[in-house]
Amino acid sequence: MKFLSIAEAITKGKGKVAVRGWVHRERGSNKLKFIILRDESSMIQCLLPQEKFKKQWLDIDKLQIEASLEIEGIIKKEKRAPTGHEIHVDKINIVGLSNEFPINKDLNEELLGDRRHLWLRSRKMTSILKIRSTVLQALREHWHNKGFYEYHSPTLIGMQCEGGSTLFKVDYFSKPMFLSQTWQLHAEPGIFALEKIFTIQPAFRAEKSKTSRHLTELWMAEMEAAWENFDYLQDDAEQAIKHVVSSVLKKNKTELEFLKKDLTTLKATLKKKFPRMTYTESLKLLKSKKKVDIEWGKDLRTIEEDKLSELYDTPIIITDYPKQVKAFYMKESDKHPSEGKTVLGFDMIAPEHYGEIIGASQREESIERLKKNLKEQGEDPEKYDFYFDTRRYGSVPHGGYGLGVERLIAWLCGLDTIKDAIAFPRTMSRSYP
Ligand code: 4AD
Ligand code: MG
Repeated sequence: MKFLSIAEAITKGKGKVAVRGWVHRERGSNKLKFIILRDESSMIQCLLPQEKFKKQWLDIDKLQIEASLEIEGIIKKEKRAPTGHEIHVDKINIVGLSNEFPINKDLNEELLGDRRHLWLRSRKMTSILKIRSTVLQALREHWHNKGFYEYHSPTLIGMQCEGGSTLFKVDYFSKPMFLSQTWQLHAEPGIFALEKIFTIQPAFRAEKSKTSRHLTELWMAEMEAAWENFDYLQDDAEQAIKHVVSSVLKKNKTELEFLKKDLTTLKATLKKKFPRMTYTESLKLLKSKKKVDIEWGKDLRTIEEDKLSELYDTPIIITDYPKQVKAFYMKESDKHPSEGKTVLGFDMIAPEHYGEIIGASQREESIERLKKNLKEQGEDPEKYDFYFDTRRYGSVPHGGYGLGVERLIAWLCGLDTIKDAIAFPRTMSRSYP
């Protein structure tokens, strides 16, 4: 018989079905065994009376949670069963035994982390991983629909892009190299071939902080576009987020419900235009609405971003930061001449205290300025010579951004920690399994 998913079997609702999966719960007497079988799609109660399975009874009686089974039987409505149906089993094939599955509800976060490879089977992790899959598909759709090409940059590179303090060094045949913090330096050359490109790939940051928002290995969705201006970047970022949110609301109702996600900010995000303000305006808002006084030129910290996000129910876009707090490649501007130099860069801040989800900028075209900025960070501009070639041969206005996939998922799912937004998180204190 052809196996149906449990959800398909429930939809069928009557007659003979074959399903397979893992024992989620079991109880029984010497007369009757109840098994709740789960698969990727759902779960269902299965009834195995001793009378029918005299030969296999010893094995059936010993079945424990997470054993894998194939069963065949008659499915019927049963109000008292967890998913409204049950299967009266006629045939059972025990595929893989399980002995004292080492996950239970008393485990703390640390132990669940040690047993992550098994904890993935939980409904919580399964729900998050399904939403993650929707998010990645939606991002790809968003850019493909606009004619972008998927393009890839190397993971092993010879220089920093986002500051030297978070670099992971790799011994590359006795020569030092680094795990890439972003695709950017190798993406900018790509736009001269393909014009509009994107990627979704891991990025690495040796973050020494233990926060609920930082991973050392994260996935970043990045885009880079030739000929486009700063407004285009903000529009594209807003459209990308709206498309992701709309896809998750459509495809993952069950998962959002299981995770008990309050949908207020997700729904508002679809309906409203994201507020856009300059850094300087954000300081004024912080002062007037939150009684927080920040000196012009200081970066916004997590607490300030959180306070700003409390004023809105959608993501917000903060533009034109002081030059000294942003990366060397951001295009210099004069939005606030009385205070100091600014850059055409923006951060997108998620609602509900999930922090910065996007970092973006128009790219600086002057080689002199790029060199000066690098030198100020103690970098040797020589190492970046290939990058300057993008400015030497047919330079065009261009820009791009990077979206932190796990931060976005943490917001969409309402997670306490970013670690749960990925199957096997990597942080300073977590590198196993
Ligand atoms: O703001 P960032 O550092 O920007 C860049 O790397 C640019 N080169 C991207 C580009 O223009 N192509 O990082 C982008 C986003 C952040 O907004 C944040 O959401 C996420 O990546 N991010 C992290 N997420 C989790 N853990 C970390 N340690 C992260 N570091 C950055
Ligand atoms: Mg940033």
